[in-house]
Amino acid sequence: MRYRYINRYACLFVIVFSFGWIVFHCKNNCKNCQRILTKDESYGTYDIPNIVHFITGQGDSSDAILDRYGPRLGFRRMERASREFQLINYLVLLSARKHIKPDQLYIHYSFEPTGYWWLKAKQDHELNLTLNHIPEITSIYNYPLYHHAHRTDIARLEILDKYGGIYLDLDVLILKSFSNLISNSYHVEAIFAWENQKFHAICNAVIIAPKNSKFLRRIYQSYQSFNSSCWGCHSILLTGQLANIYKNEVYILPSRAFFKPSWSHIEDLYVNNIYNFKYNYACHLWNSYVGNIFLYNLTINSILKPKKMTTFIRMIIHAVGKEKLNMIAR
Ligand SMILES: *[C@@H]1O[C@H](CO)[C@@H](O)[C@H](O)[C@H]1NC(C)=O
Ligand SMILES: *[C@@H]1O[C@H](CO)[C@@H](O)[C@H](O)[C@H]1NC(C)=O
Ligand SMILES: *[C@@H]1O[C@H](CO)[C@@H](O)[C@H](O)[C@H]1NC(C)=O
Repeated sequence: MRYRYINRYACLFVIVFSFGWIVFHCKNNCKNCQRILTKDESYGTYDIPNIVHFITGQGDSSDAILDRYGPRLGFRRMERASREFQLINYLVLLSARKHIKPDQLYIHYSFEPTGYWWLKAKQDHELNLTLNHIPEITSIYNYPLYHHAHRTDIARLEILDKYGGIYLDLDVLILKSFSNLISNSYHVEAIFAWENQKFHAICNAVIIAPKNSKFLRRIYQSYQSFNSSCWGCHSILLTGQLANIYKNEVYILPSRAFFKPSWSHIEDLYVNNIYNFKYNYACHLWNSYVGNIFLYNLTINSILKPKKMTTFIRMIIHAVGKEKLNMIAR
């Protein structure tokens, strides 16, 4: 009898001691190590909560550092982010509220955005944003992260690991309900869409996953060989390679789910008006390619009274609704 108690206390002691040791050890040695633990077992559920996550305000290194080490797309060095929240970002939030109808609509940031449309978004009761301040993410496995896009690549994995749900870039306009997708009838650890199946490219602008997703942890762990000067090596190409290897962990939708018209047919989005978006759950607006040309000069008036109707304007009217647009214009 007594022996059993001693045994139990000994066990308890070992557990408390090990826990203390781990905490002590981490405090001393894990300053810069990964924030998602490398547990390999999945959480044991494929339930995807109806929560939407956006990320903004991640900050960038200085221009001088970006010039030297920053990511490039072809010959072009990727720009630093403006702190100003744009009209298009507000419209994207509204489209997610209207069509996905999430239980909670998060916007996570390290540096709060600025500008008229940010105030408007915060004050919009119907939109009902949940603001969440997150610590700045400046490295992954001891590789520095210079550019906000690479920082949000990591942040989205950490946030989905913690909460699960639907991650969306702030230039993804939502065109219909995601209920077919989050029901997760495929029983997978993550849902993406091809950006270009021929090149095995998967864009991470939309990720749907349960929390503690095994597949997303594989992506995270792949950052142990991060190349910060390459724009899409990890977020796009490596994700595609992992999806080809771990086929039964992930469901990849056809590109028209989120990524048509493609950036290589940008005129079908912003110039012409013939694209049929019946099959799109959403449309990625390719902000990092064409924001300066087509997105930052957008005004409410140019949507309600366009000089020329385009697929883009037609999509916004469908995504947000004429009524809401008229309310904003007032
Ligand atoms: C706003 O969202 C929260 C959850 O973030 C919810 O509890 C609350 O009921 C919502 N408010 C309205 C007015 O819908
Ligand atoms: C990193 O990416 C850059 C740009 O794509 C490339 O030139 C370089 O060779 C890559 N480095 C490694 C170690 O793969
Ligand atoms: C924004 O600029 C583009 C390219 O110059 C042009 O095609 C478009 O009509 C402009 N949009 C507005 C609302 O002025």
